[in-house]
Amino acid sequence: MDRTFVMIKPDGVQRGLVGEIIARLERKGLKLVAARFERLPEERVDRHYAEHLERPFYPGLKQYIMSGPCLLMVVEGRDAAKVVRTLTGATNPIEAAPGTIRGDFGLEIGRNVIHAADSPESAAREIGIHFPDGVVEYDRIDAPVLYE
Ligand code: RTP
Ligand code: MG
Repeated sequence: MDRTFVMIKPDGVQRGLVGEIIARLERKGLKLVAARFERLPEERVDRHYAEHLERPFYPGLKQYIMSGPCLLMVVEGRDAAKVVRTLTGATNPIEAAPGTIRGDFGLEIGRNVIHAADSPESAAREIGIHFPDGVVEYDRIDAPVLYE
């Protein structure tokens, strides 16, 4: 089964959206296999967003990500990375479709509530960065009716 990395950013935490977002992931059928609430250290933010280090928006992005605690998660399910990106919506909440997390809860690109790994390869890299000791393995009782 596929896994992906998801993180509720500091604005999502401060706005009390943690429960709402986890509920959406759970209702979709995704299985939560790791979670940690923490304020990210600078070194890990740089590793996480390595592809953006030289971008003009990076200093502001880093300051925002480090401005408060985040909720880091790994979820499991078929095509997990793609499924979570679909639930998350477009990067800019102005363009994100209604019904998506960013489309329902955000107003601007620099405060877009949630991060989701953009591919299975990114997911594996990010899970390795944030959960180097692995995830919790278990069966969810509804698996036989979620998948054919
Ligand atoms: P994320 O990595 O956070 O899930 O977002 P994403 O894949 O949809 O977008 P990405 O291109 O990876 O950008 C990472 C985060 O940087 C901020 N950003 N600001 N001001 C800007 O032009 C700009 N562009 C990107 C956003 O917070 C975005 O989520
Ligand atoms: Mg990204």
